[in-house]
Amino acid sequence: MAAVAAKLREALLARRDRLLASPRFHRLASAFWPTRPVARRRAAALFDLCAGFVYSQVLAAVVRLRLLERLAREPAEAGALAAAHGLPVEAVERLLLAAAGLGLVERRTAGRWGLGARGAELLATPGLAAMIEHHAVLYGDLADPLELLRRPPGETRLAGYWPYASAEDAAALPADRVVPYSALMAATQPMVTAEILALRPFRGVRRLVDVGGGEGAFLEAVAARCPRLELVLFDLPAVAERARARLAAAGLAERIRVVGGDFRRDPLPAGCDAASLVRVLHDHDDTTVLELLRAVRAALLPGGTVLIAEPLAETPGAERVGTYFALYLAAMGRGRPRRVDELVALLRRAGFVRPRLHRTRLPLIASVVSARRDAP
Ligand SMILES: C[S@@+](CC[C@H](N)C(=O)[O-])C[C@H]1O[C@@H](n2cnc3c(N)ncnc32)[C@H](O)[C@@H]1O
Repeated sequence: MAAVAAKLREALLARRDRLLASPRFHRLASAFWPTRPVARRRAAALFDLCAGFVYSQVLAAVVRLRLLERLAREPAEAGALAAAHGLPVEAVERLLLAAAGLGLVERRTAGRWGLGARGAELLATPGLAAMIEHHAVLYGDLADPLELLRRPPGETRLAGYWPYASAEDAAALPADRVVPYSALMAATQPMVTAEILALRPFRGVRRLVDVGGGEGAFLEAVAARCPRLELVLFDLPAVAERARARLAAAGLAERIRVVGGDFRRDPLPAGCDAASLVRVLHDHDDTTVLELLRAVRAALLPGGTVLIAEPLAETPGAERVGTYFALYLAAMGRGRPRRVDELVALLRRAGFVRPRLHRTRLPLIASVVSARRDAP
C-alpha cells in the first residue's frame, strides 16, 4: 500500500514539474485572468529569489547609515539626509527609492521620506541591526557559493569571526577574539529569551546551568523572571570574564555564578537540576554534540532536565531558517542546522529520556526541545 502511494506521489510530482517547467504553461497562466493573480505572485516570488542579495545590500546600507533611526525621529528630505551623511543627493535618492521598494522607507508629503512599515518592524526587533551589520563578513564568503562549499573548513572570513569553531584550543582564545561574536550574541539574545521564557520552562527547577551562556544576557533575563532560581553560567574563559563584568555591572555578581572552561575538555558545573543550551549545538558536529550531551547528563542531578533552544531545520513555516543556517554554518566551518528528529536521536544516544518539542511562538527564532536525565 505504501509503495503504491509513493509511486502515485512520484507520478504526480513529475507531472507538476513538467507543467511548471513549461514556458507555455506560464504564458497561459498569466494570460488567463482567473489565474493571473497567482501567476503574478509566483513570478514575484521567483524575482525575490533572484534579487535577494541586492535586497540585503540595500538593507545593509540603510542600517549602516542609521537611516531608520533618523526617519523614526522625523521624516526628512533627501537633501537633508545627504548633507547629514556626506553623500551626493542623487546617491541618497537612489538608496531611498531602493529602500522604498522593500518597505523600509516611504514617501511622505512635501518631498520628505519617512519610515516604512518594514523599517518600523526592523527597529522593533532587538539585535537585528547588529545581525545585519555582521552579515558583511558572511556575504564576503558567499560571493562565490560553490567555492565556499569546496573550501576546507576554517579558511573563511566567518571562521575568523567565530574562532572557537576551528580553534585547536578554544579555552586559550584571547579576550579580543571573543568580543565581536559575544557582543552580537548579547545583542540578539532578547528575541531568543522571549521565545524560551514564554514557555515558562523553569517551573519547579532549583538550580540552572546555562552552558555556552555567552555574556549572560539569557541568565540576566531568567534572574529577573525567576527570583528564587539559582543560576550558573559556563563558557570559555575569555567569555566568562566578559560575563562576570557584565553581570557585576547589572548587580548580579552574587546571584549568578560564572565558571570558565571548555565543554569539550572540562567537567561542567555539577549540582544543577536543569541545563540550558541556547544556540550552542548547531555550531558543532555530531561527535561534539553527543559528547556535550553526555557531559550535560553526567553533570545533572537525578530527575534533571536539559533544554535546547535553537532554530531547527525543516520546521513547518520556518523552512528558510534552515536554508540560512545551512550556508551560514558552512561559512563558519563547523556545525549544521538539525531537524527535531536528529536532535532527539542524539539526546537518546546520550542517555536522555522523554524528549519533547515545545512549540515556540516564532520557530524562526528558536524552537525548544527538552529531555529528562532519567525516567521519573
Ligand atoms: C552561538 S553562541 C551562543 C551564546 C548564548 N547562549 C546565546 O544564545 O546568546 C555559542 C557560545 O558557546 C560558547 N562555546 C563554544 N565552544 C565552547 C566550548 N568548547 N566550551 C565552552 N563554551 C563554548 C561560545 O563561547 C559562545 O558563547
